[in-house]
Amino acid sequence: MQRRRVAVLISGRGSNMAALIEAAKDRDFPAEIVLVLSNRPDAGGLATAQANGIATAVVDHKTYGRDRAAFEQALQAELVKHRIELVCLAGFMRILTPWFVGQWQERMLNIHPALLPSFKSLDTHQRALDTGVKLHGATVHFVVPEMDSGPIIAQGAVAVRDDDTEATLAARVIAVEHRIYPLALRLVAAGRVHVAGGRCHIDGAAAPEQALVVPDDQA
Ligand code: GRF
Repeated sequence: MQRRRVAVLISGRGSNMAALIEAAKDRDFPAEIVLVLSNRPDAGGLATAQANGIATAVVDHKTYGRDRAAFEQALQAELVKHRIELVCLAGFMRILTPWFVGQWQERMLNIHPALLPSFKSLDTHQRALDTGVKLHGATVHFVVPEMDSGPIIAQGAVAVRDDDTEATLAARVIAVEHRIYPLALRLVAAGRVHVAGGRCHIDGAAAPEQALVVPDDQA
């Protein structure tokens, strides 16, 4: 099996990155994490990647000031240098231009801490609590130029409890994120995900169970 070469782009602690690295240690996993790239030199996830023997690179956006095009060209150069085939955004806190997104059409994934299309952008957990939704969760989707949009590959839901705080809800959502991101990357890397009409279809899965995590424990 030819494993797809993956770069994970981070800006912070990199817990989703770590979940992807763990999953890819399985020789049967159809992707290998060959590069972790950060736009911040102090991102905690860089040390985790290095401890796992994975190449790291920093393209510090501050060096480029307002020149977003130059920043993205530097990102792209790193990805090309490492012969990357798939990109996973994992807490990468830069808005990407249509040019960069276009380089990675249907080859770049993002994880968002909400059940899209609800609660795009930031502060998703507090907004879920404020709105009073009973289900919240996380989404892995292909990246398109519009932020937090794009065909949905996998989702995981958690029940919202009456006594939840932003912190308790975030803790349950991140646990779901760590399950669905490896699941989604596995499906994409294996070539099982096809986009048609803005929707992802998964080969061999008439029902969505292989890309859906639902609350199995309301406790
Ligand atoms: C996650 O909640 C992810 O959904 C969002 O940013 C956060 C990154 O956390 N895009 P981590 O760095 O993976 O721990």
